[in-house]
Amino acid sequence: MTGVGFFQFVGWLWLIIRRRLGKATGRDERMDYEYRVLVICTGSVASLKVPLLCQQLLAHEILVRVVATDSAANFLECETEMPEDVRLFRDKDEWASWNKRGDPVLHIDLMKWADMMVVAPASANSLAKLANGLCDNLATCVARAWPVGKKPAIFAPAMNTNMWNHPITKKQVETLKSWGYTEIPPVAKQLMCGDKGEGAMAEVDTIIEKIVAHKIERIMSEYYH
Ligand SMILES: Cc1cc2nc3c(=O)[nH]c(=O)nc-3n(C[C@H](O)[C@H](O)[C@H](O)COP(=O)(O)O)c2cc1C
Repeated sequence: MTGVGFFQFVGWLWLIIRRRLGKATGRDERMDYEYRVLVICTGSVASLKVPLLCQQLLAHEILVRVVATDSAANFLECETEMPEDVRLFRDKDEWASWNKRGDPVLHIDLMKWADMMVVAPASANSLAKLANGLCDNLATCVARAWPVGKKPAIFAPAMNTNMWNHPITKKQVETLKSWGYTEIPPVAKQLMCGDKGEGAMAEVDTIIEKIVAHKIERIMSEYYH
């Protein structure tokens, strides 16, 4: 049984037990199982894999929303299709929903909505912004408002090998990790630009495995709390 298969099995088992317990106590258990993941998608070619990532999250009964930077949107609009159940947010949505005092502030609402933030792919540019606290678009505003350490935050860097090997990258990765982010390191393979080496985003299965593990951990901690 693969890692994901095992977690899925435990998840299903848990779901059945909790639903039975819920029936016995008359409680509506559905809300307990709602796990919400916000995918922050930035301008790496690995954005092409984000619809697949979302599809697999939905298959694990995880609610998904996506925030895409303008660069990432180029890839998302290219040859991929986001699953119907996934809401996609862009920079323009931030201002479209705010006109006056009292109106919702999208980056704060998204931060509150999500149980977990997954920056995948994390481009070199967005990685640099996150590590330096910049917040000049919807994606980095959500990340800047994210309560790191209280709610899980994962990032999966994806960039050309030379960008990955640049000394600044290591510093930025270490900075995020020191704050409580979990890195899903890139892998080595033939990159879209033709170069061969480290820098490609980790496999979707690897990212899913990490997210599902967090979901199970949350369910367990709620149960024993
Ligand atoms: C075709 C194409 C592929 C790119 N792939 C990557 C990539 O894999 N990783 C990366 O860090 N930047 C990549 N870039 C450059 C980024 O898109 C660029 O740095 C952009 O400013 C990132 O913006 P964002 O971080 O706000 O999304 C690519 C650009 C192009 C045109």
